[in-house]
Amino acid sequence: MEIKPINSYNKMSKLAAKIVAGQIINKPKIVLGFATGSTPLGMYRELVELYKKSRLDFSKVTTFNLDEYLGLSPEHPQSYHYYMYENFFNHVNIEEKNIHIPKGDTKNPVQECRNYEREIEKIGGIDLQVLGIGVNGHVGFNEPNINLEARTHVIQLSNETIRANSRFFKNLDEVPRKAITMGMATIMKSKKIILMAWGVEKKKPILKVISGHIATDVPASLLQVHNDVILVVDKKIYSSSTVTDPLSYPDKI
Ligand code: F6R
Repeated sequence: MEIKPINSYNKMSKLAAKIVAGQIINKPKIVLGFATGSTPLGMYRELVELYKKSRLDFSKVTTFNLDEYLGLSPEHPQSYHYYMYENFFNHVNIEEKNIHIPKGDTKNPVQECRNYEREIEKIGGIDLQVLGIGVNGHVGFNEPNINLEARTHVIQLSNETIRANSRFFKNLDEVPRKAITMGMATIMKSKKIILMAWGVEKKKPILKVISGHIATDVPASLLQVHNDVILVVDKKIYSSSTVTDPLSYPDKI
């Protein structure tokens, strides 16, 4: 795992956008995996800037989002569908037919998961996956558990995630209890991964991600066995002054 500690949110966003842009320039028909939430908002803003000012071309790019709340229609302001169009897709020259987000209002969630997984396989997998991390160590909506699902599936959100994500809703009761998410294997099969983490509340899960231990109760820790992960991380969480030997983390957490 390549670790890049960064000292401002703007710099983190610029770096992530630069990596994504570089990959698009190398391979215009790239397949990108996208995350939502607070963390990548600045990266989307930067990518829109690169499109407007530097003509970064999204016309051949295909995207797959990691997850979507079950029960929310694309028009719902808290759906990930809405987020992606508001913050990114509406502002660049991506083709509608190349955008994939699990359908939160599907009548048949199990079939929707199968179709979604099949679409990713059909195109040859994800070239570059952008990830955030939950306070409980989830990636996508793969919540801590004894068993993790490999493929795209329906998941019951943990109380911790419901609480964390309630900041986007009027109240706790409005937060959907279930979601569709890519599975851990879907994510791990991505050729390249950028994991972004900003804010001290991400310190605990991030230290576990780089600890050298892999545990299903910190799903993001599986990323340690992937051979091409860049961790773009808040310097307050990971800096040479607070950390000298990542292998000593387990004792310190
Ligand atoms: C969102 C997603 C989640 C978030 C994570 C962090 O599509 O897959 O794993 O990346 O919950 O969310 P923020 O960035 O809001 O702290």
